[in-house]
Amino acid sequence: MKICIINGPNLNLLGTRETEIYGSKGFETFYDDLKSEYSNIAFEYFQSNIEGEIIDHLQKEGFSADGILLNAAAYTHTSVGIADAIKSIDSPVIEIHISNTFSREEFRHKSFISPVAKGIIAGFGLDSYRLGVESIKALKDV
Ligand code: DQA
Repeated sequence: MKICIINGPNLNLLGTRETEIYGSKGFETFYDDLKSEYSNIAFEYFQSNIEGEIIDHLQKEGFSADGILLNAAAYTHTSVGIADAIKSIDSPVIEIHISNTFSREEFRHKSFISPVAKGIIAGFGLDSYRLGVESIKALKDV
């Protein structure tokens, strides 16, 4: 089973960025733990601050991955292009957020990703990604 994780803008700064919201663990540390916990899953990780690169990556992986965990970060609330890319690929995309976007500013309540995602996991800190892995496993019934 292959699962891709795609992180959008500013998520490369996890661990130091707004730690009261996003916590103090860097993504790489978390990702190493995740790979150890699910050693039978082939993970692929991509982070970009650039919208078009995220679209390119969805197109690249979206016909072979069993599932994609996408935290589009700020582009969640703005990007028709990412939503269109999700509609154009085969792999199920799970929308992931570290924070509960609905308990935050109103502009974060709008998501262009939600209507085209298979499902949404938000508000569990970095554990949102692990829950995303479980959701893809459940989809594939393994
Ligand atoms: C985020 C929530 C977004 O509103 C924000 O722009 C982010 C991170 C989250 O994971 O909680 O950068 O996607």
